[in-house]
Amino acid sequence: MLIDCDPGLDDAIALLTAAHHANLVGITTVNGNVGIDHTTHNALAVAQVAQLDIPIHRGAERPLVNAPMDAAHVHGPTGLGSVEIPDLVRTVDSHDAVTFILDMARTVDDLHLVPIGPLTNIALALQADPTLPSRLSGITLMGGAAVGGNVTATAEFNVWADPEAAAIVFRHGGPITMVGLDVTHQVLLGADHRDTMRAAGTATSLLAADLLDYAVEGADKIHGWGGAPIHDASAVVAVTHPELFGGEWHPVEVEIDGALTRGMTVVDSRPDASDEATVKVLRNVDADAVIELIVGAVTSPPGD
Ligand code: BDR
Ligand code: CA
Repeated sequence: MLIDCDPGLDDAIALLTAAHHANLVGITTVNGNVGIDHTTHNALAVAQVAQLDIPIHRGAERPLVNAPMDAAHVHGPTGLGSVEIPDLVRTVDSHDAVTFILDMARTVDDLHLVPIGPLTNIALALQADPTLPSRLSGITLMGGAAVGGNVTATAEFNVWADPEAAAIVFRHGGPITMVGLDVTHQVLLGADHRDTMRAAGTATSLLAADLLDYAVEGADKIHGWGGAPIHDASAVVAVTHPELFGGEWHPVEVEIDGALTRGMTVVDSRPDASDEATVKVLRNVDADAVIELIVGAVTSPPGD
């Protein structure tokens, strides 16, 4: 698995989840929840806490067309809530995430790409080498929604932040699994999970508990759900434990023009549209099992 991310509270928990459940071979960063300096710093910090000795490459500092947007109001000014970010003992391997993604696709058998931020790096990689999908086992992304958005009435953050990039990926990225809000809003982690993490007392579980503190408080203010959707971790588990998810194949296009719908993933659910379907839209999830896997991952000893 190669994760392209913009940590981000839930990206950080996704990295910790992948560190335990996946064979994570690299991380690339992108501008998104906060600026690229912060997302890259945060990816390095999380990898350090998780004792992940893998390449980390910095990527795009701005979307293809949009001015950079952020979600610092959700993730905090640094992107990691109120977590005290440790001093870094290492730096990035390069500032060229796109070349790294293309190189890894050439050299790693069955590489699965898991973008959990705006899709800028992936679109640039597809533009540089349109044959990229033929060398991947798949792309599973957190983004979009069949019904309703979270930034606007119709758009989810990762697609909304760089709709032109998302349009390229959905059109040219080959078979894609879309882990959108339809699924991630069903997987809520709350105070009980946070307490379990804190009680485990490991470096990763304490980090995850601090991240969850901020996420749960924020989600309670916005939704009043009593828990926070840790969106990006669900995308990781959708790759490592696909049996926990259900969905159907549909054609999906990204709206880039609409005044009310820019950044919307338009899912064509008409029965006769399925012949052109290239996107598996996940809708059902065994939320308890996914949560158990996430909590189990972050409470395992780092490096395990
Ligand atoms: C997505 O947007 C970001 O704020 C999160 O990290 C997640 O990737 C959810 O819409
Ligand atoms: Ca993210």
